[in-house]
Amino acid sequence: MKDIMIATGNLNKVKEYKEILEPLGFVIHDLSEINHTDVEETGTTFSENALLKAESVVKSCKMICIADDSGLSITALDGAPGIYSARFMGDKTNTETNAVIIEMLKDKADRSAWFTCAIALIDHEGESHLFEGIMEGSIAFEPKGSNGFGYDPIFIPKGLDKTSAELTSAEKNAISHRGKATRLLLEYLKENY
Ligand code: IMP
Repeated sequence: MKDIMIATGNLNKVKEYKEILEPLGFVIHDLSEINHTDVEETGTTFSENALLKAESVVKSCKMICIADDSGLSITALDGAPGIYSARFMGDKTNTETNAVIIEMLKDKADRSAWFTCAIALIDHEGESHLFEGIMEGSIAFEPKGSNGFGYDPIFIPKGLDKTSAELTSAEKNAISHRGKATRLLLEYLKENY
């Protein structure tokens, strides 16, 4: 009953979910344990893509399935990179991509941006549940910090004067899109399992 499949090929995500859920008595499984082919992320929102990923796996295992999708949306770029965050600049490194984004925003007055994290859970009855967290902020004029990953060095969370790559993981988790979505997921699991 307390088995959960994490529908991601990303072992860092599996590790993070383990750290959060194992203390509550959940047994975490990952895709290496089942036959599974990668699903195409054809959704138009983070929630749709998270659901697609969870649904693609639930058929192959008889347990709760969780998948997530996340990314950065920039107002002046009409919400880009958005759901394409992981592959926005093809083969470019994070550092190169961040430099391109700063260049793209150089003449823009509006530097506002936000991170979204959607977590989809499919329960034993096949019902889906969505948990979403958002972190608002703005794009920095230059990259700073070496913590975190991806777009963290160019993202300044609202109300702070440093990038999220200058925060410790505990500080980031307290305010981040992923932290918020995860806390909603935890509340649901505590109430229902
Ligand atoms: P996915 O959720 O695995 O599809 O990947 C989302 C992509 O969005 C990552 O590869 C990062 O580029 C970006 N992203 C999502 N969350 C964060 C974050 O907390 N900090 C920095 N970049 C992030």
